[in-house]
Amino acid sequence: MTQPAAPYRLVVVPGDGIGPEVIAGGRRVLEAAGRLFGFGFEWREVLIGGVAIDAYGVPMRDEDMAVCRDSDAVYFGAIGDPKYDDPKARVRPEQALLALRKGLGLYANLRPVTVQPVLRGSSPVRESLLEGVDMLIVRELTGGLYFGKPSELRVTPAGREVVDTLAYTEQEIRRVVKLAFELAQGRRKKLTSVDKANVLSSSRLWRTIVEEVKAEYPDVTVEHRLVDACAMTLIQRPAVFDVIVTENLFGDILSDEASVLAGSLGMLPSASICERRTAYGLHGMYEPIHGSAPDIAGRDVANPLATILSGAMMLRWSLGQPAAAEAIERAVADALVAGYRTPDLVAATGDQPGQKRVGTQAMADAVVAALEAGASQKVGAASAGAGAKVAVR
Ligand code: IPM
Ligand code: MG
Repeated sequence: MTQPAAPYRLVVVPGDGIGPEVIAGGRRVLEAAGRLFGFGFEWREVLIGGVAIDAYGVPMRDEDMAVCRDSDAVYFGAIGDPKYDDPKARVRPEQALLALRKGLGLYANLRPVTVQPVLRGSSPVRESLLEGVDMLIVRELTGGLYFGKPSELRVTPAGREVVDTLAYTEQEIRRVVKLAFELAQGRRKKLTSVDKANVLSSSRLWRTIVEEVKAEYPDVTVEHRLVDACAMTLIQRPAVFDVIVTENLFGDILSDEASVLAGSLGMLPSASICERRTAYGLHGMYEPIHGSAPDIAGRDVANPLATILSGAMMLRWSLGQPAAAEAIERAVADALVAGYRTPDLVAATGDQPGQKRVGTQAMADAVVAALEAGASQKVGAASAGAGAKVAVR
């Protein structure tokens, strides 16, 4: 791997709630990976979300959007604060997240769902069903109900009415579907397209485009599932899925559901990527799929692993460091095998012999230690670390 001449230029958005805590852990793991693999980072921190409303009166300033654009990648914690939950509020932290996704052109959100063997007991789903679960949800991220216009409340003589719009162009559907096919080619070569074609016109166009595109990927097996039935199969037979591709809102809902398989929402990373290339890869934003969890913020109890694994995805997709990405993924698996558990991972099973209940920063330290141990084992040995490999692509 050719090393960059200069440090990677990262923008970091700690955000609200537990965001700053999980990001602190993630940064330490990335710094450790940089030391071991011979690269460095230049971090630029910006306030976006509820913290920006508090500081500037807006969820994101234009200049901060520009800073995010002018970077090698964006490392994002979480945003959202209950004090802005009033449905009548005109400014909300989430507006910044949507503006970032749209403004940076982050059309594809990759949410890998893997189940660490040692965490099977942490999921409420029966252990036998979790064997072999390894899926990648590809969620369309800049279209659909999140962005369609009109989206508004109207007052009519007959009372209030609302409208949200689910709009897609064929180009928007095709680019995310093609990406999903390509990702399936690098995995088990099975693609599930999820829609509601028995009801929605948008889904019928989605399905038509999947059918049109599939001729270009003859080695990939394609199936269509309706979103309601798919939600059921995700719990009943989760191992049948390889790559799932779906529109924005369906992907939002299904990925939270799928996180139950992994034992905790705190385990699932994500990469949001765009078409723009940087010097090292695709520009993108990397964030845990969980939110700001204000109820546990500031107590050093949040699980940092989703953020740490998002950092690994950043190394792979935006920074051209796949070996460092894999080392982090192995280190996460090793820390879990060594028994480290944040409270969310203990919830279902209670404390077990050999397990060590730790907080956010101690969990990040355990990953750093596993990373360093893996690197020193690697000298003279073919494999690093004892844990199961996390196949996050
Ligand atoms: C997610 C979140 C966001 C979404 C919220 C915070 C707007 O749930 O990233 O999944 O709905 O996309
Ligand atoms: Mg969500």
